[in-house]
Amino acid sequence: MTQSSNKPRILVTRAIFPSVIERLSAHFSVESNPEDTLWDRPQLMARLVDKVGAFTTGTERIDAELLVHCPQLRICANMTVGYNNFDLPAMTAAGVLGTNAPDVLTETTADFGFALLLATARRVTESEHFLRAGLWTRWSYDMFSGAEVHGSTLGIIGMGRIGQAIARRAALGFGMQVIYHNRSRLDSATEQALSARYVDKTTLLQSADHIMLVLPYSAEAHHTIGAAELACMKPTATLINLARGGIVDDAALAQALRNRTIAAAGLDVFEGEPRVHPGLLTVPNVVLTPHIASATAGTRQAMADVAVDNLVGFLVHGQPRTPLNPQVLALR
Ligand code: DGY
Repeated sequence: MTQSSNKPRILVTRAIFPSVIERLSAHFSVESNPEDTLWDRPQLMARLVDKVGAFTTGTERIDAELLVHCPQLRICANMTVGYNNFDLPAMTAAGVLGTNAPDVLTETTADFGFALLLATARRVTESEHFLRAGLWTRWSYDMFSGAEVHGSTLGIIGMGRIGQAIARRAALGFGMQVIYHNRSRLDSATEQALSARYVDKTTLLQSADHIMLVLPYSAEAHHTIGAAELACMKPTATLINLARGGIVDDAALAQALRNRTIAAAGLDVFEGEPRVHPGLLTVPNVVLTPHIASATAGTRQAMADVAVDNLVGFLVHGQPRTPLNPQVLALR
């Protein structure tokens, strides 16, 4: 849907809250996508050619090839905290600002980490499928016995804002021992406040009862968990991936779940999503959700509002809220 006016032109790539379109329309001529059509790359490029800004949702690849075709583009504002869809060096070189939406989804995502952990360790979906299939005929002492969550050891890989929110829940709510591994170690006051102990990756893999992945995706983080890492984990362990597809080698994980190298996994993100590795769809000991860790109405609204703040802040007032490559601001 296009509005013609002399206002600066921006693109909203996917269907979004009406309030977002209203706020943006006060400042810009907005081309939106109320039908939520999934544009392929040439379609996206064609729509961006005459735009100065884009409201993006974390899945649109913004790289040098696209930027060459969009000389007027000044800003791409993700409504997600993750920004692995941005080639940030290429954007900086082209003078295009990238922004994301940190903070507003931290607690909601941490809640979901526990939803997945509890569902996985306590076999909630597996037992529900059994019940719905009409297979429940009597109570038995060992039916769907799972792994203890309270009092167990939680290993967190990636100790940013979301990792820390998970650590707080683990220690205070579930009496868990928290160990973590991260590119950089937290200062000792923060470690103490979180009751979290830094360990190397191998120690974490070998000693955690449950492992949660909350690190950002990068080339170095690709397949942080593969066959070798799965083999290090306890056979009773559960693995939770809230981070990004590609952090786990999903083929290796499907094999490990089938062989019971580890007990179970809870996955909200997948390599090549929305496709899911077929091996994961046929094993019972995995809980699968369609990238919904931040999906509450309030949080998704807050995430979208950050993206709007960034577009208006930058294009109207020269001051974005959460810039990823602030070097670009000096170019204005
Ligand atoms: C993010 O914000 O990066 C999430 O993965 C989207 O829910």
